Amino acid sequence: MKEMSNQEMKNMFSLEGKVAVVTGGAGSLGEGVATGLALHGADVVVTGRTIETLQSTVKKVEELGKRALAIACDVTNEDQVKAMAKQAVDAFGKIDILVTVAGIAKRFPAEEFPVEAFEQVMDINVTGTFIPCKVIGNVMKEQGHGKIITVSSVRAFAGHPGGYAAYGTSKGAVALLTKQLATEWAKYNINVNSVAPTIFWTPLTQEVLEDEKLKKIFLDRIPMGRAALVQDMVGTTVYLSSAASDFITGQIIYVDGGCTAG
Ligand SMILES: NC(=O)c1ccc[n+]([C@@H]2O[C@H](COP(=O)([O-])OP(=O)(O)OC[C@H]3O[C@@H](n4cnc5c(N)ncnc54)[C@H](O)[C@@H]3O)[C@@H](O)[C@H]2O)c1
Repeated sequence: MKEMSNQEMKNMFSLEGKVAVVTGGAGSLGEGVATGLALHGADVVVTGRTIETLQSTVKKVEELGKRALAIACDVTNEDQVKAMAKQAVDAFGKIDILVTVAGIAKRFPAEEFPVEAFEQVMDINVTGTFIPCKVIGNVMKEQGHGKIITVSSVRAFAGHPGGYAAYGTSKGAVALLTKQLATEWAKYNINVNSVAPTIFWTPLTQEVLEDEKLKKIFLDRIPMGRAALVQDMVGTTVYLSSAASDFITGQIIYVDGGCTAG
């Protein structure tokens, strides 16, 4: 790899000409990330379990003058993810960026946690991160480059008394999976990093938002005193998708207003 010219360095955050795949593209953060990548120049493939729920994201990307393609696929089903990757490559010719946003949360006291619910969280958050990474990692290996951004959480960093036995464990696994893939795939010129946010007010955290006592507990733990906003996630994701982060791999970037600092 050679030194960048001033012009290349000026454009190092640009995603012009890049193709991104975003899983969970119908969710609050998925839609924000897909739109944010498009704002910085990328064409975007958005995936979710049903095509209908992806239409609003597709519209937002297309309104920015970028190409968008919605593909239905369950991230826990390898055959569906393979078919999605093939359709994306057939349409766009390559995949430069993968952001694995799909995920769920279920909270119960650990001593009462239904095993079925625990397994469902692990299946969607961990296996549902691994499968898209594996499938699109193979596309990137073939191409000789790629940027993978997983979505972990501050719950990967420390425990929490609010019933996070499954969610925290799953996000801890996503963080370690990120480091594992980074070390295995550096030789293929694939960067693998994770965005690990604190709480956003989305449907996923509705029950916390509606519980004033719990909401205060969350906000009291964040030195900057507020929840995360979509732009906080977009800034880090664009950085990790761009040439500005070419020498960064295996990192878990906490987007958390200082929550994990002390
Ligand atoms: N909201 C927060 O406070 C917060 C904080 C830290 C991390 N995160 C993580 O960010 C990601 C997105 O969260 P969000 O708040 O946008 O949630 P959301 O519920 O709005 O979106 C999640 C999306 O994932 C999709 N999904 C679930 N299971 C799937 C499956 N098997 N196959 C395909 N898609 C599936 C859902 O349909 C939904 O569209 C999640 O991984 C979450 O753990 C969220």
